[in-house]
Amino acid sequence: MRIDIITALPDLIIPALNQSIIGRAVKSNVVNILFHNLKDYGLGKNNQIDDYQYGGGAGMVLRVEPIFTIINQLKSERDYDDIIYLTPDGETLKQTTCNTLSSHKNIIMLCGHYKGIDHRVREALITREISIGDYVLTGGELAAAVLTDAIVRLIPGAMSDESSALSDSFQDNLLAPPVYTRPENYEGLAVPKILLSGDDKRINEWREEQAFSRTEQLRPDLLK
Ligand code: 6GU
Repeated sequence: MRIDIITALPDLIIPALNQSIIGRAVKSNVVNILFHNLKDYGLGKNNQIDDYQYGGGAGMVLRVEPIFTIINQLKSERDYDDIIYLTPDGETLKQTTCNTLSSHKNIIMLCGHYKGIDHRVREALITREISIGDYVLTGGELAAAVLTDAIVRLIPGAMSDESSALSDSFQDNLLAPPVYTRPENYEGLAVPKILLSGDDKRINEWREEQAFSRTEQLRPDLLK
């Protein structure tokens, strides 16, 4: 999979995708993540990328030209399955969307900033608009990092134990059961006995019960 991320603030997102499971997936070529600095496509000698909004009002808007230039260049080089704009008024990100996107070959993510982007970009180039929740961030960079992380970990080969991606919370609309590691007893705080029994069948039943009861208690909306 190839992910092209277009941003005016690459320093905000590059370090977040350089670590741990995602960092290793990049190093082992499970995924190729390319960053494009919007300022490299800016206008004039100041590389201008934003401007005042027509009609007045506070906040700068990203201009059409730099974004069209970089996206059209990428599209001329290969086909993209989706061109995603990260925006608080997009569809709220769900695990099912991550599953779908993780099977794509090439995607572009465009991070907005300031007041947003000129609406003509959204109408002409964007195929999908995604929000990571009902709150407002200063820009789309952290949202793009969240989306990339959620997608890349699902790509075969990204995680050493692939079955663990399938037992995540939300993968089956259930929260994950609690987990424990050594020691068996920490100053009176004991691990549930069943997990030490060695009885795989009963352990699996216990985990399923826990997943169900935690979901009922904490996120009953997921069971509807
Ligand atoms: Cl994708 N962008 C911004 N700026 N804020 C958000 C968001 C995205 N998702 C939730 N809040």
